[in-house]
Amino acid sequence: MIFDSHAHYDDKQFDEDREAVFAQLKEVGVERVVNISNGWDDMLRSLKLVEQYPFLYGTVGIHPCKVSDLNEERMSKLRELCHKEKIVAVGEIGLDYYWMSDPKEVQKEWFIRQLHLAKEEDLPVVIHSRDASQDTFDIMKREHAGTTGGVIHCYSGSLEMAREYVKLGYYLGIGGVVTFKNSKVLKRVAAEIPLEHIVVETDCPYLAPTPYRGKRNSSAYLPLVIEEIADLRGISTDEVEQVTYENACRLYHIQ
Ligand code: NI
Repeated sequence: MIFDSHAHYDDKQFDEDREAVFAQLKEVGVERVVNISNGWDDMLRSLKLVEQYPFLYGTVGIHPCKVSDLNEERMSKLRELCHKEKIVAVGEIGLDYYWMSDPKEVQKEWFIRQLHLAKEEDLPVVIHSRDASQDTFDIMKREHAGTTGGVIHCYSGSLEMAREYVKLGYYLGIGGVVTFKNSKVLKRVAAEIPLEHIVVETDCPYLAPTPYRGKRNSSAYLPLVIEEIADLRGISTDEVEQVTYENACRLYHIQ
């Protein structure tokens, strides 16, 4: 059984054929998917899908590139939404210095506010960090983000940093990027970090694995990611599939 720990099925790219894609997931053994919130409107669309499909779980929270969607009123609304059924985390939240849609200080402020929300609501966090590795880690350390636990989605940092996150009790989300030829550091991370701290993810519709790189991604391509991790570690795909499934259940507190 496969658990996609990070997807965006509310994306417009699935509007035409979402039902057909979901039917395909069952065929390749994808049993559970967490649909991750992005901007405010994306989140509302995601919550509807989560209500509609039993295999989908959801998160609430605003992506670092969309923090201009946030205000005090919406922060209170986020808190309310944390109590909805099948809401398993706060995220994705964090820092993105690549797109820099908002100044660093603004991003940091909303990141910290949402980390506090997770702590108060007793939910794990889904972290997005791009070109902001040290600042993300420093804030998490200072804010005791180890208490809630969570996942560093689409992990792209160094092996040393990966080990620090493992010490904090975090999971690393690994997806299609690990299949790319030039992903040398990530391949090492996938080979050397304890398997008990790895979850697989798509971030679909983005980041499809080789040989579908550049095409629309879906959880149906996760066997390719699982195969790559198994090869890198020299273990069976069954073991990777089973352990990462259990990890994702533990991460999101799903029975
Ligand atoms: Ni994402």
